Parts: sequence; structure tokens; C-alpha cells
Amino acid sequence: MEFFEPLKAEFISVLAVNTNKYRGAHYATFPLHLVTPCVLATCPPDGLVLDPFCGSGSTGEVALNNDRSFIGVELVEKSAILAQDRLQNC
Ligand SMILES: C[S@@+](CC[C@H](N)C(=O)[O-])C[C@H]1O[C@@H](n2cnc3c(N)ncnc32)[C@H](O)[C@@H]1O
Repeated sequence: MEFFEPLKAEFISVLAVNTNKYRGAHYATFPLHLVTPCVLATCPPDGLVLDPFCGSGSTGEVALNNDRSFIGVELVEKSAILAQDRLQNC
């Protein structure tokens, strides 16, 4: 498959991964083990993570459980409420 040829790997900025399940959430939540290294590598402890497409709040869960602050933006009210409830437990 051309997309995965080694010589082109350095230009790949899109990862193909399976989505995760989260109770009540839509079909495309992030696996936490995918988000965790991204948050830890790009935001210092006590830093602020912004997810402008927050969905069920997976990125927020990782941020808050790793000593980062979090701001999530979500268009769909039901998802925003779900994320808010989820993040209150972090
Ligand atoms: C792929 S989902 C994100 C899933 C999230 N990473 C998670 O783990 O739950 C993308 C989200 O972006 C939201 N969205 C789409 N357009 C938006 C917009 N213009 N502003 C804010 N949120 C938006 C959708 O409602 C959807 O919940």
C-alpha cells in the first residue's frame, strides 16, 4: 500500500487507528493510549490543553489525569454535557 511505504513515512501526518467506546458517546472516541503520548509530549506539566473538537472528552481526561488543565469546545450539546460529566470525575 503506497501510504505506508517507508520512504514516504516522514510525510505522514494522519494516523489510522481504531476508535474506542465510551458510554453514551458517539462512534469516534479516541483511544486514551493514543492521546496520552500526544498530550505528554506537547504540553508541559501545569500547561493547558485545548481540544476544539472535544466530543466525549477523551483528551480532557488524559490532560486532567496528567496534571494539565483542559479547555474543550464541542458543537453538539449532548456530547458537551457528556464530556462535562466525564471530566468532573477526573
Ligand atoms: C471525532 S469527534 C471527537 C471525538 C473525541 N476525540 C473523543 O474522544 O470523544 C469530533 C467532534 O467534533 C465536534 N465538532 C464538529 N464541528 C465542530 C465545530 N465547528 N465546533 C466544535 N465542535 C465541533 C463534533 O460534534 C464531534 O463531537
